[in-house]
Amino acid sequence: MKIVITGSIAYDYLMFFPGKFTDSLLADQLHTISLSFLVDSLKRQRGGTAPNIAYTMGLLGGRPMVMATAGQDFGDYRGWLEQHGVNTSAIIEIEDDFTASFFVNTDQEQNQIASFYTGAMSHAHNLSFKQYAADANLAIISPNAPDAMSKYADECRELGIPFIYDPSQQTARFNGEQLLHGLEGCAMLSVNQYEYELIQEKTGLSEAEMMERIGALLVTRAKDGALLVADGATYHIPSVPPRAIVDPTGAGDAFRAGLMRSMELGLPWDVAGRVGALAATYVLENLGTQAHFYTPAEFVARYREHFNDEGALDILLA
Ligand SMILES: Nc1ncnc2c1ncn2[C@@H]1O[C@H](COP(=O)(O)OP(=O)(O)OP(=O)(O)O)[C@@H](O)[C@H]1O
Ligand SMILES: [Mg+2]
Repeated sequence: MKIVITGSIAYDYLMFFPGKFTDSLLADQLHTISLSFLVDSLKRQRGGTAPNIAYTMGLLGGRPMVMATAGQDFGDYRGWLEQHGVNTSAIIEIEDDFTASFFVNTDQEQNQIASFYTGAMSHAHNLSFKQYAADANLAIISPNAPDAMSKYADECRELGIPFIYDPSQQTARFNGEQLLHGLEGCAMLSVNQYEYELIQEKTGLSEAEMMERIGALLVTRAKDGALLVADGATYHIPSVPPRAIVDPTGAGDAFRAGLMRSMELGLPWDVAGRVGALAATYVLENLGTQAHFYTPAEFVARYREHFNDEGALDILLA
């Protein structure tokens, strides 16, 4: 089965400033700001929705293809993904630009000053399913440059590729018309609770009207787990208690990865949802969105501490 993951590729640059920004922001000088903060730590983390999803699918024994744009600084990131089972042949490097980058400086009071540079991501609309993945059996359209998301949805509909429409963080910037266009005819809509309410508000669709346009629905609800509506049934998926919450970022991406890998394996929906929930929990327990690691056997053992899969997950151990 060929699974294609589209979405952003990004680096997160995390800085820590051992002081208070507010000590330097003088109320009577705000018309002419020129400030420099001496930071004492800088970390660069691999991120972006597409690699986040693909990385977890790789851990679960899948070999997804990522179709996305990155910059001239992508080099060792490609190797990392390949090592973890990701097919990167449709990740295109834009030579004269940088990978999308999120720079955030946090002070000792948790105040943040951040900037996001779109960079190579703004070229994503130049990639095409027709060129790279016309034979895909399943795709996901995750947060990316808006024009690319819209184009990919059109292409999937035209080529008859079942796709998960995953506007997630981009939900806030789309209007009702754009959201309706994206979700029309998708195999599944995946969002968190807040984003789901935003979509209902912006499109004016009731849940029943929504279900007429989409094949299935995943709504994640943080510690309350998730709601999955598929094949005419509704599943309440419990969350898996984390050993510690170190960093909540990326849990949603991992949930989608677990769910898609399960779809690939043909697992029943209730098991598929729980695989998603456990995959999400691992991400909560680590700093960064690709800092977790496990073997399929370790994953299945932990699943069985909480749930009974009646042997369905033996397929991951084969
Ligand atoms: N506090 C928690 N305890 C247990 N599981 C959690 C917790 N928070 C999140 N999860 C798991 O992660 C999944 C996705 O979380 P959530 O609904 O917060 O998504 P999100 O806000 O889109 O996350 P992201 O920051 O990755 O975009 C949940 O369905 C659940 O399985
Ligand atoms: Mg999310």
